[in-house]
Amino acid sequence: MMFYLVVCLFLFYYSDVALGGDPFAYFKWEVSFITASPLGVSQQVISINRQFPGPIVNVTTNWNVVVNVQNNLDEPLLITWNGIQQRRNSWQDGVSGTNCPIPSGWNWTYKFQVKDQIGSFFYFPSINFQKAAGGYGGIIINNRDVIPVPFGTPDGDITLLISDWYTKGYKDMRNDLQEGNDLGIPDGVLFNGLGPYRYNDSLVPAGISYETISVEPGKTYRFRVHNVGISTSLNFRIQNHNLLLVETEGSYTVQQNYTNMDIHVGQSYSFLVTMDQIASSDYYVVASARFFNSTDWARVTGVAILHYSNSQGPASGPLPDPPNEYDTYFSMNQARSIRWNVSAGAARPNPQGSFRYGQITVTDVYVLLNRPAELINGKLRTTLNGISYFAPSTPPKLAQQYNVPGVFKLDFPNRLMNRPAKIDTSLINGTYRGFMEIIFQNNDSIVQSYHMNGYAFFVVGMDYGVWTENSRGTYNKWDGVARCTTQVFPGAWTAILVSLDNAGIWNLRSENLKSWYLGQETYVSVVNPEINDNTGLSLPDNVLFCGALSTLQKHQSVRFSEAPSIASAGRPILVAVLLTWISLLP
Ligand SMILES: *[C@@H]1O[C@H](CO)[C@@H](O)[C@H](O)[C@H]1NC(C)=O
Ligand SMILES: *[C@@H]1O[C@H](CO)[C@@H](O)[C@H](O)[C@H]1NC(C)=O
Ligand SMILES: *[C@@H]1O[C@H](CO)[C@@H](O)[C@H](O)[C@H]1NC(C)=O
Ligand SMILES: *[C@@H]1O[C@H](CO)[C@@H](O)[C@H](O)[C@H]1NC(C)=O
Ligand SMILES: *[C@@H]1O[C@H](CO)[C@@H](O)[C@H](O)[C@H]1NC(C)=O
Ligand SMILES: *[C@@H]1O[C@H](CO)[C@@H](O)[C@H](O)[C@H]1NC(C)=O
Ligand SMILES: *[C@@H]1O[C@H](CO)[C@@H](O)[C@H](O)[C@H]1NC(C)=O
Ligand SMILES: *[C@@H]1O[C@H](CO)[C@@H](O)[C@H](O)[C@H]1NC(C)=O
Repeated sequence: MMFYLVVCLFLFYYSDVALGGDPFAYFKWEVSFITASPLGVSQQVISINRQFPGPIVNVTTNWNVVVNVQNNLDEPLLITWNGIQQRRNSWQDGVSGTNCPIPSGWNWTYKFQVKDQIGSFFYFPSINFQKAAGGYGGIIINNRDVIPVPFGTPDGDITLLISDWYTKGYKDMRNDLQEGNDLGIPDGVLFNGLGPYRYNDSLVPAGISYETISVEPGKTYRFRVHNVGISTSLNFRIQNHNLLLVETEGSYTVQQNYTNMDIHVGQSYSFLVTMDQIASSDYYVVASARFFNSTDWARVTGVAILHYSNSQGPASGPLPDPPNEYDTYFSMNQARSIRWNVSAGAARPNPQGSFRYGQITVTDVYVLLNRPAELINGKLRTTLNGISYFAPSTPPKLAQQYNVPGVFKLDFPNRLMNRPAKIDTSLINGTYRGFMEIIFQNNDSIVQSYHMNGYAFFVVGMDYGVWTENSRGTYNKWDGVARCTTQVFPGAWTAILVSLDNAGIWNLRSENLKSWYLGQETYVSVVNPEINDNTGLSLPDNVLFCGALSTLQKHQSVRFSEAPSIASAGRPILVAVLLTWISLLP
């Protein structure tokens, strides 16, 4: 009896281990502005617990993650978890179509399970163009002990968040976009929120802090590299070192060495890097802009330092060469060379390739065409199949749950229609347990990357030109990698296959923040017809209400000192309460 009591008390105290269930990891995040000068110009950036980038969420398959987010920005906030599938639980997805924004000064607690997932992902603020000011951080999902990783345990685990960056404030940037102006060439590239090492005195001003990665000779490290930027594809490379690709966005890949890797906005990769050099000096770690004139874009280059403990001195001389910028096939061939390791286990002990995607019959085909931004009703907007997404004040997910009519339509066309472009809330009507083929056709002159929430999809083909039915003959039906973000080259197409087994309303978007902000997104509604609560896991008890449902929202007490916009609204009430109290004094 006593023994059980002790065990129970133990479990109670170490409540990281849930009784009979999967462990919990708790986080408390205060999201606020801090001042930083990553490129030598002082500016407002979004921090988490006053850190920029935010802390790494380091958990294991099937853990429950609980994040109390306190929004101390001066405007609404949502955090989304790029690549976390939220099985049957799009309530935790943190995008405008599923969640009401967390008002300034309020707390909201995300609670989700990283069910059946492993790998490298990241989080970021999803609305109001806030990602351009930071607020992002890495997510690591480790294998459970019982499932072997297809490589030896690395000697260290290093997260690198790389991003194009502007010294202009994000609110000015979004105003520029709304007024139809381009943002111009970025001012630089950051590594973990820090500017470039001064590899060239005329390109990099003095006094900029840069990232240093300290390593031991002979050891092997896992580098998790995420492009968390706005719109620039970055070529990542480490001087004199090979990058052994092992994982991308939750899938173990066939292991191959690369001297550099093009990482498009929203993509994540893990490389094993062995410190096999003689360390006559430090080495450059570079992330430079791709597909732009390298003279005009010279400043869009991030440089960190790889420092061996036995290094003989600083890095010097020119940066390692990028790939030839006029070889249009280099990047596409590299993307095609990334293969799934079908025999490796991942979140579950069975091999990744036990799901034979190439043998499944496709039930729905969508060809999604994007074009350069165009004027619709006098506003510059971006589209998919001629529709620019309008984010309604009532999130479609909430509208579906409460049967609020007229918020969205399930009529997203599966081809570009012969009609003028329009702004609308049109969603894809997905078939539960269907197998969907999506072809992204990029008619713009820039690289696009597309992301789907709630799923990993198989990247089965990409090529230049216009996709036709015959293009299916070129598909990789065996070991195309399963991931959540794919690039689509200009004037080219990329085909993906996705098994719609996750009920919910899921964001399908451009990860290019400029295209996304101007409307290049939609949602896929996947309803399980057999379940009464057909929207997946039931509504969380802390759900926020807004739009047509705002009267259901209970008020939350706010901490005035840290919530400026609410504070000014709340102060008169506080004064009134004080006056009432004083008037009641004898
Ligand atoms: C809000 O978050 C802050 C910081 O984590 C915490 O101190 C406070 O108790 C939270 N308030 C509520 C109502 O959860
Ligand atoms: C993540 O947590 C595991 C233990 O669960 C630990 O072994 C590992 O070093 C951590 N990784 C990082 C990058 O903190
Ligand atoms: C694939 O994974 C298996 C199982 O872990 C491993 O033995 C093998 O080396 C991997 N193959 C490649 C090419 O990476
Ligand atoms: C520094 O960059 C400038 C401008 O790109 C270039 O002209 C110059 O040669 C570079 N200097 C060195 C030492 O590489
Ligand atoms: C990758 O390169 C390293 C040297 O950096 C070499 O030791 C290793 O064998 C290579 N691995 C593969 C799979 O080519
Ligand atoms: C790149 O830009 C420079 C300076 O603006 C220009 O001289 C050069 O011709 C451009 N290169 C190409 C290939 O367009
Ligand atoms: C959506 O698709 C389901 C079948 O998956 C169908 O029953 C339903 O009528 C469709 N809804 C609309 C609005 O087209
Ligand atoms: C876009 O489509 C037009 C008309 O079909 C075509 O002429 C043009 O080459 C395309 N551009 C790209 C970048 O695909």
